[in-house]
Amino acid sequence: MTPKTFKIKSFGCQMNVYDGERMAELLADQGMSAAPEGEDADLVVLNTCHIREKAAEKAYSDVGRLRREDGSKPLVALAGCVAQAEGGEAKRRSELIDIIVGPQAYHRLPHMIAQASSGARPIDTDMPALSKFDALPQRRRAGPSAFLSVQEGCDKFCTYCVVPYTRGAEISRPWEDVVTEAHSLIDAGAREIVLLGQNVNAWSNGKRGLAELIRALADFDGLERIRYTTSHPADMNDALIAAHAEVGKLMPYLHLPVQSGSNRILKAMNRSHSVETYLATIDKMRRARPDVALSGDFIVGFPGETDEDFEATLGIVDAVGYASAYSFKYSARPGTPAAAMEDQISREVMDERLQRLQERINLHQLAFNQSKVGCDTQILVERKGRREGQMIGRTPWLQSVHVETAARPGDIIDVTLVVAGPNSMTGAIRTKEAA
Ligand code: 5AD
Ligand code: SF4
Repeated sequence: MTPKTFKIKSFGCQMNVYDGERMAELLADQGMSAAPEGEDADLVVLNTCHIREKAAEKAYSDVGRLRREDGSKPLVALAGCVAQAEGGEAKRRSELIDIIVGPQAYHRLPHMIAQASSGARPIDTDMPALSKFDALPQRRRAGPSAFLSVQEGCDKFCTYCVVPYTRGAEISRPWEDVVTEAHSLIDAGAREIVLLGQNVNAWSNGKRGLAELIRALADFDGLERIRYTTSHPADMNDALIAAHAEVGKLMPYLHLPVQSGSNRILKAMNRSHSVETYLATIDKMRRARPDVALSGDFIVGFPGETDEDFEATLGIVDAVGYASAYSFKYSARPGTPAAAMEDQISREVMDERLQRLQERINLHQLAFNQSKVGCDTQILVERKGRREGQMIGRTPWLQSVHVETAARPGDIIDVTLVVAGPNSMTGAIRTKEAA
């Protein structure tokens, strides 16, 4: 039976969220509709993440839960990076899976759904560079802040990471395609565009790099804010840093993963930057844009990490003073060089290190938020808050702000930040008289 309703669940990174949105648009274009919240769907797409073991295992436990009480089941599509990494193996692991589709092949979903509806179990993990973008329908829906994938894949081969295998080689979408999609998103109501890529700052088109793209987008009427993520320290060039000083619409925020504060571990990770070159980049960035909020990613318990290496990681957290940061326990991924390294770290040591690192990060995050108390700024209103009359928006530094206001999603409003919490701020509307 051909499905009429669908549900898409995305896990993992923002690129997956973007892919999930595009799959939804594609299915809607085929005449299907999203199942209302809390209701069963004829087709469930699990858009999965393979970055750590826990994320990958979650995909299978979620598949297992899709069987209904009466024994029936929806059509199940395993999409995303687990599908790419496991391919046909996924069919063997769960008989509930009907369709296996990788992150570069999901434009072929309608055809695969037709095949699966007549009993086949199609699989497509081809990686045709960029052809999915040409095959997908135009963007017609966008929230106040919209994701736009401009670059995919990775050539860096950090020794712990599956991305080069699941997302393929580094590839940039052409200038014209990005510009066309940006216009569609703005027409659909986006006030902010977040340019996405596994190595977004490696985006290039001929001689033009991300800095030129950002400068061009900044001229678009209706677009008020530009962000980009995730950047690699080795691709953080002077032109992009200069854009932060000169382009008002480019927000003062930079997510720049360092992973470890120990040069020995960075080398074993094949990170192509050192603590010193990383800090020099941060320094340049702060000179260009003194109020920039910095964010990062950390892995604790990489094979061979000593107490001393870990102390160095706490040291770089203090040296940078992150406004926010993500930290993870190292997870050995099949096929990556680090999985075969000696000296894998015990779970207990990893747990303890992660806890200490997160405490340290939280201190800096709170300090950053506190440093903004009393600050007059603007927030982009994104959605309703939990309380009646309350809305949630974002500062230029990406902090969530709760505020009592009649403003609607998409409005950019003047607020004073009045209370700092560990994960969000409270704002008060700034009226003309108060200003
Ligand atoms: N184990 C733990 N964390 C990982 N990351 C990537 N690969 C692994 C792994 N094997 C983290 C890195 C990266 C973020 C997206 O996920 O910190 O920046
Ligand atoms: Fe997860 Fe990486 Fe795939 Fe994103 S690209 S979904 S982080 S494995």
